[in-house]
Amino acid sequence: MFVTFEGIDGAGKSTQARLLAERPRVGAETDAPLLLREPGGTPAGERLREILKDPELSLHPRAELLLFLAARAELVEQVIRPALETGRDVVCDRFSDSTVAYQGAGRGLGVEFVQRACADAVAGCVPDRTVLLQLPVAEAGERGAGRGDFGADRFEREGAAFQATIAGCFDELAAAEPERFLVVDGAGEPGEVHERVLAGLGLDAAPGGRG
Ligand code: TYD
Repeated sequence: MFVTFEGIDGAGKSTQARLLAERPRVGAETDAPLLLREPGGTPAGERLREILKDPELSLHPRAELLLFLAARAELVEQVIRPALETGRDVVCDRFSDSTVAYQGAGRGLGVEFVQRACADAVAGCVPDRTVLLQLPVAEAGERGAGRGDFGADRFEREGAAFQATIAGCFDELAAAEPERFLVVDGAGEPGEVHERVLAGLGLDAAPGGRG
């Protein structure tokens, strides 16, 4: 199963992706899920990440889009597809929906244009489930401040209006594909949110845990 986490900066995706990937499993016969983050996860992808996060570089939105998609195409072909083919689960912190929200809505390239470009880049490698973590922009901003090696440079500095646009786009994407998306309230302690994620995905809680 291929699961992605989406949401605005500071919504708690990275923590929740890690909790899902590292969750104790009873009698697991396959390897633990592979935990990935975007952009990155391959040698070329990490170098593209350096370019994308550099506040000194100004990038045209279309160039920015294509760099994110180049990093993703590498990740899909080198890592995600091979893992899924061996039956291993993959958990990814951000994927195509981030590109649609940030470059399509946020940067104004257009949602449908970016959706088509994303579809070309991943060549059929689409998440089975996507967890959208919802948190009010102000709350996410407080959580996110001073954290991460990326967002504060290029995207978090865009401010609350930009984040609100992104949040609105994520909500529309989730409404359009209710079977793929699981919308989860990101408020509260990480453990509580994790339980909501597990329940929503129909997975058992940790052995010995509640539920
Ligand atoms: P993020 O997961 O927030 O990185 P970190 O936790 O290390 O700061 O992602 C980095 C930023 O990149 C984030 O602000 C969203 C943005 N982004 C896009 O604009 N388009 C994309 O396709 C992806 C994957 C991320």
